[in-house]
Amino acid sequence: MNALITGASSGIGRAMALSLSTKVSQLILVARRKERLEELRGELLLINPKLKVDILVRDVNDPELTHDIERVSGKKIDILINNAGLALGREKVETSKFSDWEQMISTNVTANFRMAHLVVPWMIENGGGDIINLCSVAGFLTYPGGAVYCATKHAVHAFTRVLREETAGRNIRVMQISPGMVNTEFSTARFGGDKTMADKVYEGMNPLVGEDIARMMQFMLDQPRHVVIDEIVTMPMAQGSPTTVVRGKV
Ligand SMILES: NC(=O)c1ccc[n+]([C@@H]2O[C@H](COP(=O)([O-])OP(=O)(O)OC[C@H]3O[C@@H](n4cnc5c(N)ncnc54)[C@H](OP(=O)(O)O)[C@@H]3O)[C@@H](O)[C@H]2O)c1
Repeated sequence: MNALITGASSGIGRAMALSLSTKVSQLILVARRKERLEELRGELLLINPKLKVDILVRDVNDPELTHDIERVSGKKIDILINNAGLALGREKVETSKFSDWEQMISTNVTANFRMAHLVVPWMIENGGGDIINLCSVAGFLTYPGGAVYCATKHAVHAFTRVLREETAGRNIRVMQISPGMVNTEFSTARFGGDKTMADKVYEGMNPLVGEDIARMMQFMLDQPRHVVIDEIVTMPMAQGSPTTVVRGKV
């Protein structure tokens, strides 16, 4: 059995690679940062020396990626963790950068959908598979300064639902996980590498971490085949919504 994880170089994707390392025989890991993927491969092979680890150093927006995946997988993907994604900026619509919008839309929406477009026909052909899309609480709630990020995750939410309907009864489990605040490199990326700004996001509260999300995704995958966990929505104890975060108590 194999698994394809996009955005495996940090955060949730990295944690999921570690979780799957003893459950599959091949991991196909996609991200832009080569050294991060190589370091992860070393760690994975220490856990499971028999694991085949293929690292694909590509931007998910690069159309060539589909050929790479085809080559290393032999057109067979059992598990897709459709995870690569990002938020850029916390500006209102009136002051945010259009180029940031384009990057979020192409990465979170177009490239995410392209992965499903690639692997669903193979899953049908090969008799089944599992897909987990990384959505967000921003996929059904909103917050000021997140117009385009929220819009991209609303799009993922809609796509997941339709794919679930279309594949019902075909041994393909289409699932989605929608986290609130997870302390990964997400906020550092959002604020253009400004770690001080990123740390402020999680100040005085106890956020989720990548391993929490990986554990929940593993639970979804480990269910008997007739059980589909459509969606998990998860937030840290201190968070009640994207705009309600209690600090200094937990
Ligand atoms: N952290 C949160 O609070 C949170 C909450 C809800 C949902 N999510 C979602 O969870 C997913 C994972 O985020 P995370 O929290 O784990 O953040 P992260 O630590 O920043 O990880 C993001 C991953 O996506 C990859 N990525 C980003 N743009 C890419 C591109 N154009 N091509 C290839 N890879 C790309 C990054 O790798 P490279 O930079 O090496 O390319 C990295 O591996 C995202 O879809 C995010 O929207 C996160």
